[in-house]
Amino acid sequence: MASEGRLVWQSYNCQACHQLYSLGGYLGPDLTNVISTPNKGANLVRAMIKSGTKQMPAFSLSDHEMSLLIEFLKSTDASGIADIRHFRLNKYGLIEANEKR
Ligand code: HEC
Repeated sequence: MASEGRLVWQSYNCQACHQLYSLGGYLGPDLTNVISTPNKGANLVRAMIKSGTKQMPAFSLSDHEMSLLIEFLKSTDASGIADIRHFRLNKYGLIEANEKR
């Protein structure tokens, strides 16, 4: 169930490095729509968690926790498209939002 999946998301602190709906940590990418992104989806989520990368630690989730987490990410995906804004410094040294990619 998605609400239990949210607890898995919280207990492993994914949000320290990832955003949902553009909110969260900025080391890793926003995961709101990772499930429906071409060439990503649940298989990428499983692989990233199991193996990690140089920048992302691996986590040992039980199969049950893994499927709850994926249910949760399916629910964020179904809730809409995250408005992921990008920021840059302008010539005055002020931060401006770019248009969406
Ligand atoms: C310490 C920071 C950190 C934590 C904690 C973390 N991640 Fe990541 N994650 C990253 C980084 C950085 C990347 C980009 C990986 C790379 O390019 O090497 C990433 C990439 C990913 C990707 C691939 C996304 C894409 O669009 O390519 C998924 C899926 C993912 N993480 C899921 C999770 C989940 C689920 C959790 C919690 C169980 C989690 N991460 C916890 C840092 C983190």
